[in-house]
Amino acid sequence: MEIVRNPESTTVGRDDSSRAAPDHLAVAASKLVVQGVSKTFRGEGQSVSAIGDASLHVKAGEFVSLIGPSGCGKSTLLYMIAGFVKPDAGSITFDGKAVQGPGVERGIVFQEYALFPWRTVLGNILYGLQLRPEMSATTRTETARKAIDAVGLAGFEQHYPRQLSGGMKQRVAIARTLACRPDLLLLDEPYGALDALTREDMQDQLLEIWRATGQTIIMVTHDVTEAVYLSRRVVVMSARPSRTKHDVLIDIPREGTRDEIMSTRRFIELQTQVRQLVHEEARMAKPGGVR
Ligand SMILES: Nc1ncnc2c1ncn2[C@@H]1O[C@H](COP(=O)(O)OP(=O)(O)OP(=O)(O)O)[C@@H](O)[C@H]1O
Ligand SMILES: [Mg+2]
Repeated sequence: MEIVRNPESTTVGRDDSSRAAPDHLAVAASKLVVQGVSKTFRGEGQSVSAIGDASLHVKAGEFVSLIGPSGCGKSTLLYMIAGFVKPDAGSITFDGKAVQGPGVERGIVFQEYALFPWRTVLGNILYGLQLRPEMSATTRTETARKAIDAVGLAGFEQHYPRQLSGGMKQRVAIARTLACRPDLLLLDEPYGALDALTREDMQDQLLEIWRATGQTIIMVTHDVTEAVYLSRRVVVMSARPSRTKHDVLIDIPREGTRDEIMSTRRFIELQTQVRQLVHEEARMAKPGGVR
């Protein structure tokens, strides 16, 4: 397959060795290839052109964040990668195979949690684990309990979603997807409903999980600091009909504590750069803004 790069997309950042590789190597190394994808939702009498032209190459083990104005199609793009929504044009391949529907290798945490109200915390997570028929019932329960522990919900196994706060529900949704150990983890604003402290804890936990499992992660977020802290690349989308417009390499130092990393010059530079790109897109999205 040939890569057709979006001529208007920009790449920002230093030491981007992946981009220096010939295109055929870039494709060979990509686990996920989203190429020239578009999507228009057609309703009665009106249609919404959500995504105009999205292209994204993600290598095995990469952590990429998607950021962009509200309503620009970030969730739609994740749903397409997960296989729940079909693009109108373009292609999506995962491990060299065209994505034609949902699959256990691509796990998603939905923006709205999507828990089953009639199942307990444990029941919700065990439901997700049905996607892993190779596991015995005992292993599934053990795996589910570990996942519950990992998100700090031990003791709440028998609670129903209605008995949990928004942040706790979100943590159950995260645990349900993590427990299945998907190759590709798709996270749609996973920490949006969490208080600041829990959010920081969960971010650091995600980094640990990512380092330990080598999973490939794509995360949608509105939080520039979160995107820069967690990911290796930040892709900035334009307003509707959106394009994957900027691709920023996050070459920050990774050693040290959260506070040490966040106070490095490079971190602050990149944070400012991404914030400016996002603001620019949001400005252009306003009526009268030049696209
Ligand atoms: N099933 C649908 N039918 C009709 N329109 C839809 C549908 N899903 C999404 N849209 C529209 O497509 C556009 C993109 O929606 P999407 O939810 O992907 O945006 P988003 O970038 O995730 O927004 P946010 O940051 O607010 O979560 C919006 O204008 C939305 O109204
Ligand atoms: Mg969304």
